[in-house]
Amino acid sequence: MSWDPSALPDAHGRTVVVTGANAGVGYWTSEQLARAGAHVVLACRDPERAEAALSAIRRRVPRASVEAMPLDVTDRRSIDATADALLGRGRVDALVLNAGIVHPPGERQTDAYGNELVLSTNILGHFRLVARTLPALVAATDARVVTLGSLASRLGRLRLDDLQLESGYTSWRAYAGSKIAAQVFGFELDRRLRAAGSSVQSVVVHPGYSTSGRTPGIRGVNHPSRLKRFADNLQAAWTQGKDSGAHAPVRAVLDPAVSGGDYLGPAGWTKGPPIHTPATRASRSPRLGAALWPLLEDAAAQPFPLP
Ligand SMILES: NC(=O)c1ccc[n+]([C@@H]2O[C@H](COP(=O)([O-])OP(=O)(O)OC[C@H]3O[C@@H](n4cnc5c(N)ncnc54)[C@H](OP(=O)(O)O)[C@@H]3O)[C@@H](O)[C@H]2O)c1
Repeated sequence: MSWDPSALPDAHGRTVVVTGANAGVGYWTSEQLARAGAHVVLACRDPERAEAALSAIRRRVPRASVEAMPLDVTDRRSIDATADALLGRGRVDALVLNAGIVHPPGERQTDAYGNELVLSTNILGHFRLVARTLPALVAATDARVVTLGSLASRLGRLRLDDLQLESGYTSWRAYAGSKIAAQVFGFELDRRLRAAGSSVQSVVVHPGYSTSGRTPGIRGVNHPSRLKRFADNLQAAWTQGKDSGAHAPVRAVLDPAVSGGDYLGPAGWTKGPPIHTPATRASRSPRLGAALWPLLEDAAAQPFPLP
């Protein structure tokens, strides 16, 4: 099935939460969903950056229905407060798990609970958020959890025996490992939701190779230097803007033909319109999914309410 990112179906009446929505792929996902008529909750850790993103969407999409909600995905109290606020709404139609560290620190760092920071940001916080928000998703018809994976899942390896990279940390291992874990989580969540007969669907997407230097400038949201624009444009043959990177998560939220367990990414691997694309065997492995799940429950200190 083809999909035209410039002709989105009407999304009025649907509430979508996007984590890390003040910049990059998360911002554009929010803007595009708001343009389609969805009510978009921008879940961001910095109030000023969230406000800048809200103002930008309202400027660019006159009748946009948007709000900001504080969320730091490395802070359990913040995650729990967000989940409680969403449960209070009664119903959430989609949760886009986008927040992430894409340029990990050179040296291993940890969050307040001792978890490696990239793992914590890119998967553990989202695991806890989904677990706690599940009743609000179940209350919607055709709700979706959309997990941002990465092409890095093709190049790295998930070390179950050292998920926290206590030995041999490198920024690349941290990033690739966290994104493989995110994809394994997304597909395992799909299996568990199906087994429970749930109407909630778990979809995994990746935005190809999307850079800020190839993305429209927006005050308070994206202002790359001229040097960055020049350098990123040199890679134009295989990169796209983050506005285009958002097309896969937006399709995952809105396309009625997408279903749980699907994997979407750009047609040209690193760039192009979003299509169904093959995920790695490891990402889809039920054995890996079953082994990772309790490790995530343990590290996130969060039992997941699905067997
Ligand atoms: N761009 C690509 O080519 C690419 C490729 C594959 C996968 N992805 C995935 O796509 C997602 C977005 O990437 P991007 O390129 O748009 O990155 P980005 O421009 O760096 O944006 C990352 C967003 O995540 C937020 N964030 C970081 N740590 C957070 C925390 N602890 N709590 C809440 N929010 C936090 C950031 O907020 P602050 O502004 O406050 O830092 C920002 O809004 C990531 O999951 C990434 O792994 C991107």
